[in-house]
Amino acid sequence: MINWFKIIQGLIYHRFYINPKTEKNVVRSFHELYYNSTLWNKGLGNTHWFGIKTLKCPLDCWIYQELIYKLKPDIIIECGTFNGGSALYLAGLCDLLNKGKVITIDTDSYKGKPQHKRIKYLLGMSTSDKIVDQVKKLVRPKDRVLVILDSDHSRDNVIKELRIYNKFVPKGGYIIIEDTNINGHPVRPEFGPGPMEAVEIFLKENKDFAIDKSQEKFYLTFNPNGYLRRIK
Ligand SMILES: C[S@@+](CC[C@H](N)C(=O)[O-])C[C@H]1O[C@@H](n2cnc3c(N)ncnc32)[C@H](O)[C@@H]1O
Repeated sequence: MINWFKIIQGLIYHRFYINPKTEKNVVRSFHELYYNSTLWNKGLGNTHWFGIKTLKCPLDCWIYQELIYKLKPDIIIECGTFNGGSALYLAGLCDLLNKGKVITIDTDSYKGKPQHKRIKYLLGMSTSDKIVDQVKKLVRPKDRVLVILDSDHSRDNVIKELRIYNKFVPKGGYIIIEDTNINGHPVRPEFGPGPMEAVEIFLKENKDFAIDKSQEKFYLTFNPNGYLRRIK
């Protein structure tokens, strides 16, 4: 049943207390505060999953959980392992579903990466023929694949990854481009063309994907315009 009282209460609250401009400013300020608080050993720089450093915003992790529950992927491909915190988080979600494997790729082999029966570590450049061939061997044609791009955040690398890894994603599936917030969207304005700019190029050349803004429902996301859904 529609709760008219709640709807009217919400409209009044939004109109008189948080108008769209204020909301935008609050979200932007909190985003900058949260991201830059790394300097004070808070936020991004001090986030762990079961003791392993993880370069993620917890609000995005919750979105990951909701997406993974909905999609029930057979394979999650992650470009950019770092310490393995995000791979361990993803593998734990797969454990809860009793389904799925994580293929995670990095050019560097960090010491002390967590070992887990669902995680397969690949060492090399995500866009190299050698790595792409290894990934192809690990993915079966009908597998439901979720892709997460979180390696070298330069535009030129991300567009290469997008062109390669979008092919693994089935209709209804997602490719998540991490850290579209850099290069001034709104953080790290000095970065230069990054993931956001790669997404813009990719969507001009590939009409099979669309941005799913509903995944930005928690206001703060490190991946604005970065949740892409395959629509055809
Ligand atoms: C942002 S970190 C990954 C963070 C990790 N996913 C997490 O959430 O904790 C980026 C990682 O990408 C790796 N990297 C950089 N360029 C790469 C490339 N071309 N291919 C694969 N990995 C790369 C770096 O060594 C680094 O460990």
